[in-house]
Amino acid sequence: MSIISNCTATAIKDAATALLKGDLVAFPTETVYGLGADVTNRDAIARIYKVKGRPVGHPLIVHISSMDNLDKLARDIPEYALKLAKAFWPGPMTLILPRTDLAKDFITGGQDNVGIRVPSHSLAIALLKEFEDQGGLGVAAPSANRFGKVSPTTAAAVQNEIAAFLKKSDVIIDGGPSEIGIESTIIDCTTKHPIILRPGAITFKMISRKLSLEIPNLNLIATSKTIHIRAPGNFTSHYAPDAQVILNGIPKSGDGFIALRNVTTPKGVIRLSSPANKKEFASTLYAALRSADELKIKKVFVTTPDQSGIGAGIIDRLIKASSSS
Ligand code: TXA
Ligand code: MG
Repeated sequence: MSIISNCTATAIKDAATALLKGDLVAFPTETVYGLGADVTNRDAIARIYKVKGRPVGHPLIVHISSMDNLDKLARDIPEYALKLAKAFWPGPMTLILPRTDLAKDFITGGQDNVGIRVPSHSLAIALLKEFEDQGGLGVAAPSANRFGKVSPTTAAAVQNEIAAFLKKSDVIIDGGPSEIGIESTIIDCTTKHPIILRPGAITFKMISRKLSLEIPNLNLIATSKTIHIRAPGNFTSHYAPDAQVILNGIPKSGDGFIALRNVTTPKGVIRLSSPANKKEFASTLYAALRSADELKIKKVFVTTPDQSGIGAGIIDRLIKASSSS
């Protein structure tokens, strides 16, 4: 496996060629790092599952460079989905849409729909554009972590997670720390009204503002009753470090602690992150959880922020990280 820092146009070209040859390329996005493979290459996709240790049948998000390529993979796209795509792409939002025949069962887990996203990180866009220029359709990419673990937000974290499982010809592109820090908002667009399956930086408020004219009384909240398709992170423990994550408890000496800056650290407790606001909370959360494992801390206490804005996404991940498997 090679690591590309100081990414040049030639390096991006070579990485796109590697994808077309069936190699895996881990690349930065504005949310978290993805582990990419050619969406049409069954063997390369099978390797993603192997490297991640992910159960087969768990669908993958396809990354494309712009909305122009949407029709190749999705059909019968509802008006509201087009409106969301125009408003929030490139950006941290994944749309679940009815699929075309080009989105194969080995991407969608045999479902009739496909998850699609146009990321905004400049290196991700450059890689996807180059890949498409060389004849590629799209890049399937889950977060570049082992299954159930914390998503990587740096190239070093990708290396720690999966380097041992990569081949010599695979590539990791280093694009610095991910700006947002939690995974994209996933919106089910296969029904009359959109449903948020995974909250993220594109918030309930942003979505409902964008659509309020078209869809009055918009219902965006996914409940177990409304989810009719396989939902993200529905395993008991997900986004989890080795340390036990405990929400809103009182840490003791030697425990790790994550909270907004204005919350004081109890005596003897190891402060892992002191974000100034929710945005910073999201962007530093996964690195803080990783540092707990590096420091061999057994318990991490997290004081959750309020659930407005990106708070909903932070709380969602923390609830999953704190569920014991
Ligand atoms: O921000 C992100 O979305 C990152 C970056 C790399 O783009 N990707 C990511 O992928 O988080 P992954 O595979 O770790 O999480 C995607 C979630 C999975 O839980 C999967 O079940 C769900 O999205 N998903 C993907 N396609 C789906 C589909 N067609 N229907 C329902 N859920 C889907
Ligand atoms: Mg993931």
